[in-house]
Order: sequence, then C-alpha cells, then structure tokens
Amino acid sequence: MRKVLVTGGTGYIGSHTTVELQAAGYEVVIVDDLSNSAVDILDNIQKITGKRPVFEQFNLVDAAKTDDFFGRHRDIAATIHFAASKAVGESVEKPLHYYRNNLVSLMNIIDAQLKYGIPNIVFSSSCTVYGQPDRLPVTESTPRKDAESPYGNTKRVNEDILRDSIHAFPDRLRAIALRYFNPIGAHPSALIGETPAGTPQNLVPFITQTAAGLREELKVFGDDYDTPDGSAIRDYINVVDLAKAHVVAINRLLNNKNKTGFEVFNLGTGNGYSVLQLINSFEKVTGLKLNYRIVGRRAGDIEKIWADTSLANNELGWKAEKSVEETLLSAWNWEKHLRGIA
Ligand code: WQD
Repeated sequence: MRKVLVTGGTGYIGSHTTVELQAAGYEVVIVDDLSNSAVDILDNIQKITGKRPVFEQFNLVDAAKTDDFFGRHRDIAATIHFAASKAVGESVEKPLHYYRNNLVSLMNIIDAQLKYGIPNIVFSSSCTVYGQPDRLPVTESTPRKDAESPYGNTKRVNEDILRDSIHAFPDRLRAIALRYFNPIGAHPSALIGETPAGTPQNLVPFITQTAAGLREELKVFGDDYDTPDGSAIRDYINVVDLAKAHVVAINRLLNNKNKTGFEVFNLGTGNGYSVLQLINSFEKVTGLKLNYRIVGRRAGDIEKIWADTSLANNELGWKAEKSVEETLLSAWNWEKHLRGIA
C-alpha cells in the first residue's frame, strides 16, 4: 500500500483529504503540531474510513525533527503539504511568525525529501496569489500579483521555492501546486468539518455560528463593490470535491503522468457567488432566517474572483461536483453536530 504524508492532516482540508486518500487505498501518515486543530479528528477519520492514520506531532519548522521523521519513513511515496498558518488578518499582525512557519516548514520538507530520495510534493496553494485579477475568470496563466497579506505572500513565495528547487534538482523533485479558491462545507457524515479557533474569520463558519446562536449577527463587509448586488464575489468550492482533487494529483505524480516538473492547477467551481447570494442560499436550504447587517469593507479584501477550471477539468479529469446549496447544508449539519443541535 503506497504511503502518503499529509502535513496539517488534522486540519480542515487535510482531514478531508486524508479520508479520500484512505478511500483510494493509500496509507496516510499525518504530521501536525496541533496548533490549530484537535487530535480527536483522528477518531472521526477512523469512524468514517475504518482506518486510523499514523500520527506524529511536531512542528515542521524544526529541521532536526523533520529530518528524523523522513529518515524513519523513507517509504513515503509523496507528500501533501497543508501545514501552515492561514489567517489573513493575523498574518498582518504577525508577519515573522507567518514567514517562518510557512516558508521554513516547506524548505525543511524539500531538504529531507532530496536527502531521502522522495521526489513527489503536492502543495496547498491559494487563489490569493492572483490578488484582484484584471480579467475574470482566472486561468493558471493569469499573472500573480503582490499579495494583500503576508499570508498570501507566503503562498506565492512557497510556489517560487518549489519552482526554483525543482529547477535545481529536476531529476529528484517534482510538484503540483493546487490553487484553492474558497473551500467551504463539511464531510456528509458531519463527523469532520471546519473548526475555526475563536472568532471565525471566514464567511461560512461565521454564517453557521450565527445560525446556531453563537454569534449575535453576521456582518457583511461591504455592499458598495462593482458587483450585481454590491457584495463581494468568490468561487466557493466544496471541501470534499477539493479533497478528491488531491488524490487525483497524487495519482498523477505516482503514475508519472505529470507533463512538467512543476504544474499548477486552479481548484474552483468556475461560478462566482456574492456574499448576499450565499446568505440567501443558506436561508433557502436551511429554512432559517439569518441575522446580518451590512457594514464597511474589510481591509485587504478583493472585490471579485472566480476560476477558469478548464485546465483541471481537461488535464486532471477532475471537476467540482457539489452545488453551493448542498455544500451550505453540509456546513450547517456539521455546525449542528458540533453544538449538539438536533
Ligand atoms: C469571503 C467573503 C468577505 C466574513 C481567505 C483567504 C483564502 C482562504 C479563504 C485560507 C469576503 C466576506 C467574510 C464575514 C463577510 N484562506 N465576509 N463577513 O477572504 O475570500 O479568502 O479565506 O485557506 O486564501 O484569502 O474568504 O471567507 O474570509 O471571505 O462579509 O464575517 O465573505 O468580505 O468578501 P476570503 P472569507
């Protein structure tokens, strides 16, 4: 059974990807420092798949521990690297933490994989590298722009670290960078999902927590954008669809189907939804009335972005399947599971 390392595997996208990897027949080893997730996620992964991933807790910024780990797991066939700090606002307040945590961890992984002869890496990137695109939809050749935040810049710099390392060691390293648009929703079992620490920064967990009565009201950050209803537009993608794309990327590398040493794919649905449209969809599928108020724009937000998904559709043979409505319902079912709401 081929072994895949999932760094950040107790996190939101990492846990959903672990489930899909196990379902596809891979053995999964998770490395996570549990700084933004809980170890009981492993129990829930096991409840879903019947298999408990091997788990080691340490921070990949520690070069010695990272080297020691890979030295004990030389049979790893590929790494999916999720582990990173990912709060846009926090990154503005703590840039050094973000650069150290997000960049040094990747460099340590690359060092170790070169040393132990493990060539394959799938990297968790983000549409944030595009900034506010001049033209929509966004393709993989849309020029990257200066990031709006240190977090976004770490995604861009990590892509460059991978690209330059592969250029230096073309026979020993190859990678696929997956640029996520806005991941939302939860596993249909409602056993795993998004568990933001403290006050949610992202829209959908804030919606579900407001609906569950944990938050007084949802603030809509701006309705004066150049969009049909004035609120900002994003490409919201179901987290299980996103997880499945990672299995496709792993298969592509392990079956030597990659066309170049460093490939980039947008992972979105190709559809843009505004904040107000998302709220309306949530109210429609749940039958609930959401308490929200329009306030000023949030600093650093872009106005609108959605993906051109044709490269991933045609080259990977992958397409997002789940509708926004079904996805919002999965997010609500997860929130109800978390809060013990019938
Ligand atoms: C979506 C829309 C907000 C909260 C970021 C990162 C991206 C990824 C996902 C990590 C925006 C509006 C939000 C709220 C609101 N991060 N909003 N009220 O900023 O598009 O993307 O998170 O993987 O890399 O850039 O996502 O969910 O924060 O915001 O009105 O309480 O919802 O203004 O228009 P974002 P988001």
